[in-house]
Amino acid sequence: MAIQRTFSILKPDATERNITGAINALIEKAGLRIVAQKRIHMTRGQAETFYAVHKERPFFGELVDFMISGPVVVQVLEGENAIAKYRDVMGATDPSKAADGTIRKAHAKSIGENSVHGSDAPETAAIEIAQFFAGNEIVG
Ligand code: CMP
Repeated sequence: MAIQRTFSILKPDATERNITGAINALIEKAGLRIVAQKRIHMTRGQAETFYAVHKERPFFGELVDFMISGPVVVQVLEGENAIAKYRDVMGATDPSKAADGTIRKAHAKSIGENSVHGSDAPETAAIEIAQFFAGNEIVG
């Protein structure tokens, strides 16, 4: 299996509760390397662009409002099969359905305030990484 990169966000409910280190520990325990990371406060425009695929969904406004409600930590994670591996580590979008040992089972508050985002495919990972990081900010 090839080494891949995926894009991750530690969401405002995680920064608000000061649990970014606890989440990073689960990421690293799974064998993923944090090869880029920065704490930012997303603008409304950045959040709308990032979640444009969900524009027609009824929760879009709520999702954007939440993502700009406080700081987030954006990351690039690297490792074998990183995209699928991180989705396994995150657990189901709805924390009530997330498996034991996953980030969302341990930390997410609700389907909206679900602590983390991870890319769903190589194409989206490349687009999401490029939205927030220049090539020279990623150090593998
Ligand atoms: P994420 O992986 O960041 O991708 C899209 C996000 O939309 C998802 O995580 C959830 O946080 C959010 N989301 C999905 N379904 C709902 C919903 N029914 N209500 C509010 N937010 C949702």
